[in-house]
Amino acid sequence: MDNRSTSGRRPAKPASEIHNAEAHNAEIHDQFGRQAKLFAKSRGLHNNAVISLLVDAADPDFTDTVLDVACGPGSVVAAFAARVRQAVGLDTTDAMLNQARTLAKERNLANVAWHLGDMYELPFSDASFDIVTCRFAFHHLQRPLVALEEMKRVCNPGGRIVVCDGVAADDPAKAAAFNRMERHRDPSTVEFRPLSVMLDMFVAAALPPPGITPFQVPTEQEALIEGSFPVGDDRATLREMIDQSIDGDTMGLGAHRDGGTVRFSYPSVILVSSKANAHDNE
Ligand SMILES: C[S@@+](CC[C@H](N)C(=O)[O-])C[C@H]1O[C@@H](n2cnc3c(N)ncnc32)[C@H](O)[C@@H]1O
Repeated sequence: MDNRSTSGRRPAKPASEIHNAEAHNAEIHDQFGRQAKLFAKSRGLHNNAVISLLVDAADPDFTDTVLDVACGPGSVVAAFAARVRQAVGLDTTDAMLNQARTLAKERNLANVAWHLGDMYELPFSDASFDIVTCRFAFHHLQRPLVALEEMKRVCNPGGRIVVCDGVAADDPAKAAAFNRMERHRDPSTVEFRPLSVMLDMFVAAALPPPGITPFQVPTEQEALIEGSFPVGDDRATLREMIDQSIDGDTMGLGAHRDGGTVRFSYPSVILVSSKANAHDNE
């Protein structure tokens, strides 16, 4: 599984793009190095119900092998491990993988493996896995189509490709306000995209239209702020941006006051497509 095929290699990038990509990678490592412990503890992101939603959508079988890219603290891999032959997680941030290794140890998982790596250049041969998933990472990607094509490359013909992420509102003003807040909250965020843009990505990757499972990630303002490392450590502005979105729901997250706090939800989707079998086009 570990030999990268030549088809995984990409043409050299211009220097400006390399610089930009390196700066962004540094931002990812900085953010997720700092977020790792608190992120791993988030009940809202790792409770059984929300993880099962993705695992069930992928329809795993006991004989399957699964790769979860940008696996973070490993909760998705750990859930798959109980239902498949082998589950592998890959992430670019070592601190996140340390959380994943601890989780696997706590649960005594013998059929998992972890890789430090980049989802733009997966260190696996073509057609290595039956299911390839990615949860809550596409909004951190500058080149989401390249990542989706890599996921497709390492997936077996007939296998499933699952992308789960938050989605921005169709209303461009709401989407822009949401992304302004998120880029302040976590400067490694590139963009939450509307569902239509994510669906277009599947078309561009020559994948069949995915099945869509919408869901919400309920969030409480102060808990979110506590686990965040905003630009300039400016939590006051983050709080203000969320408060200001209440009137008129200007970020499309349904922010509202509930007693002494503010609650809102991240609209999210699970998209499941399948890689065609060689004989499908015959
Ligand atoms: C918001 S976390 C999501 C973690 C996990 N998928 C989950 O749902 O719990 C985003 C993760 O994407 C990882 N990441 C970002 N860019 C990546 C890349 N190019 N290759 C691999 N991992 C990446 C980060 O290190 C981080 O762990």
